[in-house]
Amino acid sequence: MDTREFDVVLWGASGFTGALVAEYLTRQYGVSGSLRWALAGRNPAKLERVRENLTTIDAQAGDLPIITADGSDDASLAAMVARTRVVCTTVGPYALYGSGLVAACAASGTHYCDLTGEVHWMRQMIDAHHETAQRTGARIVHTCGFDSIPSDMGVYWIQEEMLRRHGVPAQAVKYRAEAFKGGFSGGTIASMLNMLDQAEHDSAIRTIIADPYGLNPASGPRGLDGPEKTLPEYDNDCGGWITPFVMATINTKVVRRANALLDFRYGTDFRYDEGTLIPGGQWGFPMAAAVAGGMGMFNAAAAVKPLRGLLARALPAPGEGPDAKAREQGYFEILLIGKHPVDADKNLRMRVRGDRDPGYGSTSKMLGESAVCLALDELSSGGGLLTPSVAMGDALLARLQDNAGVSFTALA
Ligand SMILES: NC(=O)c1ccc[n+]([C@@H]2O[C@H](COP(=O)([O-])OP(=O)(O)OC[C@H]3O[C@@H](n4cnc5c(N)ncnc54)[C@H](OP(=O)(O)O)[C@@H]3O)[C@@H](O)[C@H]2O)c1
Repeated sequence: MDTREFDVVLWGASGFTGALVAEYLTRQYGVSGSLRWALAGRNPAKLERVRENLTTIDAQAGDLPIITADGSDDASLAAMVARTRVVCTTVGPYALYGSGLVAACAASGTHYCDLTGEVHWMRQMIDAHHETAQRTGARIVHTCGFDSIPSDMGVYWIQEEMLRRHGVPAQAVKYRAEAFKGGFSGGTIASMLNMLDQAEHDSAIRTIIADPYGLNPASGPRGLDGPEKTLPEYDNDCGGWITPFVMATINTKVVRRANALLDFRYGTDFRYDEGTLIPGGQWGFPMAAAVAGGMGMFNAAAAVKPLRGLLARALPAPGEGPDAKAREQGYFEILLIGKHPVDADKNLRMRVRGDRDPGYGSTSKMLGESAVCLALDELSSGGGLLTPSVAMGDALLARLQDNAGVSFTALA
């Protein structure tokens, strides 16, 4: 019998994204309903302010428990994780503040979800805690936001559909970002810049980031995919030009890890890539070249420490991000194409759509639903460092569509 006091503890509720997740849970699940949850962070005064704001959504939010735990205090982390079935964390940069929590969750059999996109840190956590989490049954799930739920759950969806319709998995899946509107928060920028800082001094980190299979199990087959795109290319399946997709280095590794953890359900020769579709059909090349060039210049500037400092000062600071109007007016649309191994007439096309800005409005709902799914749903996965699709599969698909405004729709 489960004797833990809470289903979900939201750690980092005082941050920009954490406060949005708190709002989502309050709106969707209330504070005295079937979900038992609490706010957590290192600063009780800030958490009290978050709780006060939540009373405008639900007058009873003033009763939400508050837990104090600091990432640098292992005893406070151990005490927090022992009280809950799931810790949902928005404390970042994760590589700086998150390792103790993953260790505590893995050791105590507490499920865990986060929003990290820091692949080198995910690699470290896999190497350090996968086996412990398998033993304790803790489902540790990184990348439960815009990185990488549309990719990982979208590929899961299209592969299940291909198997159901045609009895074979798609040999290749293409992810094409068609349209999106949104902005960045200071916390995300701090995480990106911290990863570049660490990579500058550590060639092992650069190797992981550059390796298309950088998150796969250390032994076992890898696959046929090569390095991420850096140049525009024409995509015959879309009838238009594509450029590199900004989150591809994270998302593609997550999808490839999912395939490996699912015992290569998508095949050992499965291929996956991501790109941004440029409007204008065959005439889109000039814009594709400009976008790819702009991204290349941004990446080159971010790789140089003094320029990185300038970027950090010009962009939002930690705790800041897109306002409510920008989040509500935001959205994302992604086309996925699943390619049948032998018969192009059996290719599948589907769209993943989110009804809020990708990074915060939609991400906070995706993360909140992941936490509730881990806490309350009957899941068949075992413990380990898993991807969202491996840990939660159909249960999360249903929650995303029913509650989080993320749709998965077959086009053909
Ligand atoms: N993948 C995605 O789609 C996606 C989307 C959004 C955000 N993210 C990631 O989510 C993370 C948070 O972003 P954000 O914009 O919300 O950042 P933020 O506003 O700076 O919030 C960071 C949070 O971490 C807390 N914190 C920092 N150090 C701590 C420590 N030692 N112990 C306990 N708590 C600590 C802060 O607490 P205080 O308030 O007490 O300072 C705050 O609650 C970032 O890593 C970002 O990259 C990812």
